[in-house]
Amino acid sequence: MDFDLVIKNGIIVNAADTIAGQDIGVRNGKIACIGLDLPVSEASKVIDAEGAFITPGGVDSHVHIEQWNTPTGDTWVTGSRSAVCGGTTTVVAFASQHKNDESVLPVVSDYMALAENRSSCDYGIHLIMTNPTPKIVNEELPFLVQEHGITSVKLYMTYDAMKLRDREILDIMVATRRLGMTSTYLLPICVMHHFHVLPRNLTDLRPSPSAMVHAENHDMIDLIIETLEARGQTDPYYHAIARPQIAEAEATYRAISLSEMMDTPILLVHVSSQVAAKHIRDAQTRLLPIYGETCPQYLYLLSSRLKGDNFEGAKCVCSPPLREKPEDLDQMWTAIANGTFTTFSSDHAASKFGLEGGKRLGLINGRPFFSKIPNGLPGLETRLPLLYKGVQEGRITINDYVRVACSNPAKLYGLNTKGAIMPGFDADFTIWYPEGKMRAFELTNDMLHHDIDYSPFEGMTFTNWPRYTILRGQTVWNRDEGGFLAKQDQGSYVKRGGSSLLGSRNVFINEWRPPV
Ligand code: URP
Ligand code: ZN
Ligand code: ZN
Ligand code: ZN
Repeated sequence: MDFDLVIKNGIIVNAADTIAGQDIGVRNGKIACIGLDLPVSEASKVIDAEGAFITPGGVDSHVHIEQWNTPTGDTWVTGSRSAVCGGTTTVVAFASQHKNDESVLPVVSDYMALAENRSSCDYGIHLIMTNPTPKIVNEELPFLVQEHGITSVKLYMTYDAMKLRDREILDIMVATRRLGMTSTYLLPICVMHHFHVLPRNLTDLRPSPSAMVHAENHDMIDLIIETLEARGQTDPYYHAIARPQIAEAEATYRAISLSEMMDTPILLVHVSSQVAAKHIRDAQTRLLPIYGETCPQYLYLLSSRLKGDNFEGAKCVCSPPLREKPEDLDQMWTAIANGTFTTFSSDHAASKFGLEGGKRLGLINGRPFFSKIPNGLPGLETRLPLLYKGVQEGRITINDYVRVACSNPAKLYGLNTKGAIMPGFDADFTIWYPEGKMRAFELTNDMLHHDIDYSPFEGMTFTNWPRYTILRGQTVWNRDEGGFLAKQDQGSYVKRGGSSLLGSRNVFINEWRPPV
């Protein structure tokens, strides 16, 4: 009955509850029990948390690693290292179809091979679908769900290389709804807790694959870019002008309408602005299975960061873009606190700022073209410390932190042993410093472990940071003794199940029914 690891003197935090005065006993990589004064044998390793918060290992459910559209970004080796050093123990990254790929099976194999034996943290794969042919949607998608546990797809409403028409999105929704119905995954008991309503009939409930939607109105953006470029307004700052809030709001509402028509859940990714968040909240109030995600950049950075000499603004080009006013940031914090946002992800999609030979992406003959700058920011390692800062500042509770950064991403994406500190779950933890113990520091890029030459959060002051990261019982990050400790292949692929959040409800817009 020996434990491999006992963690003492911590405050255990789950999404709903906080428990002080109990130890965590770990055996064979799993949480074996939580209890008072657990016995420590000679074989047990002991960690004294000194009164600090112990949160479940972070789950970052939206990261881009070694994807074709970020050729100068992190590899699995450097990206997963960076994740672990920032308290994250599981990432879900993308395999991305090219428009002309007739099958997505080789695409998925190629992306899985990139990660194999090269990840320090556990990982899963989502599929980006850019060309949903009947064969892919009806034959390959079910195969990927069953064989590989790839239970989520990402769809784009914008970007020439990725965007889908509404009809294509609807066709994919037919398939994800059908898969949810025929799925053989066990139904987790707590599926309805979030909504505090009981289903009329338990058989109405079924775990569903999730569709993630990047919602921005492509044609609005296209027209603005064309006219800005014709007027010579091509500096990085115009990226924000070209992608106004109304483009996000319109596409968000449209995606929600498609989802309502198809009785199929979706998650709106990287929500950056108030009207989009309000559409999501209104849908949730009507009990539609609509979920939302936001990211650190929309809590801290404003579009003024796109200005500056020497092309500095290129460091902060992401889509949707950074917004204008401090109130925009406040509204995103509020939407975490009031439950509108289900998940909080980094959307790590990093490109180096300075390339070898002084070449920079987005400059043509020395002149900046915002529309040519690769979209996306580095953020795997800073995600959790930035969210924790919001706890320290009283914007959200530590339980909110766990809900959006650990538990909900695990539930939504079928990571059934992740995201909570409970017996039987994986022994994945982030252990913080007791408040007041860590010396405050100003972030510089050389403190981070990614392979990117900047962080948009450099210069910010931190008074806490993950002190230990523990993956399935093994210490993979010890900030004071040894730093990064994981082996390059310490992470395992996670074959995911269906979502355990509310899915299709058998509630329809009229007497028409989606195809089954
Ligand atoms: O700007 C961003 N977010 N780039 C990454 C790709 C995406 O849309 O998630
Ligand atoms: Zn529950
Ligand atoms: Zn996106
Ligand atoms: Zn993304």
